[in-house]
Amino acid sequence: MPDPRPTPVPASIDLASVPHHVAVVMDGNGRWAQRQGLARTVGHGAGEASLLDTTYGALSIGVRVLTVYAFSTENWRRPIDEVRYLMNFNQSLLQRREHELHDEGVRITFSGRRDWRVPKRVLANMDEAAALTAKNKVMTLNIAFNYGGRAEIVDAVRRLVSDGLAADKVDEKAIRARLYHPEIADPDLVVRTSGEFRISNFLLWEMAYSEMIFTDVLWPDFRRENLFEAVQEFQRRERRFGGLDK
Ligand code: IPE
Ligand code: IPE
Ligand code: MG
Repeated sequence: MPDPRPTPVPASIDLASVPHHVAVVMDGNGRWAQRQGLARTVGHGAGEASLLDTTYGALSIGVRVLTVYAFSTENWRRPIDEVRYLMNFNQSLLQRREHELHDEGVRITFSGRRDWRVPKRVLANMDEAAALTAKNKVMTLNIAFNYGGRAEIVDAVRRLVSDGLAADKVDEKAIRARLYHPEIADPDLVVRTSGEFRISNFLLWEMAYSEMIFTDVLWPDFRRENLFEAVQEFQRRERRFGGLDK
């Protein structure tokens, strides 16, 4: 299991400009398993070590928010056995890890729809982990679960309507305030593993000006060193937000 102790941080990472919020599309579990002749679900299980190691790596360099894409609103299209595995796996991962993450000062939050398809016991565990860690300040681990970027925008618009906002009061601030976690700043860096070059309905609103890094590494092989490499690459980028260079 990952070593929670601080590891030496590469000298080439500038600790003064670490991305505040890193978001990760944890992809490639199925292919990782299939390449070894194993069931896809074995790949999901192997992703737990990657998640823990990446979380500790993020803690060691002072990342303040780590959002991870665990289950999308489209993942219900998968075979029922895989969906069931993912529901059980995410619940048991929380049960097994919430206390150790709590000890590290990690606040656990969730982004996504709480719809009828998510088993009640899974929702109860999510609530328990969120309540246990609610006051923690070191880092937020935001788990995107039954999450879709379009669903999040639809949910925000529904709230705008039910709040009775007049058309001329609808602006970016009003929409942003109704996202799942308005208190969380937009991701500075988005990493996607497994060599796929797409967004797959992740953080559509929040990613407007994120730096994107795509790596061929499959999620079960991803470790904190891969995060550090992504952060180094991020630090070589120049962000302009539509303006001109300084
Ligand atoms: C990511 O791995 C995990 C989830 C989407 C839940 P995949 O299961 O998508 O693995 P690949 O992309 O098929 O290899
Ligand atoms: C995105 O991966 C969702 C998660 C990592 C949870 P997918 O594997 O579902 O995305 P597509 O289908 O390749 O676009
Ligand atoms: Mg995939």
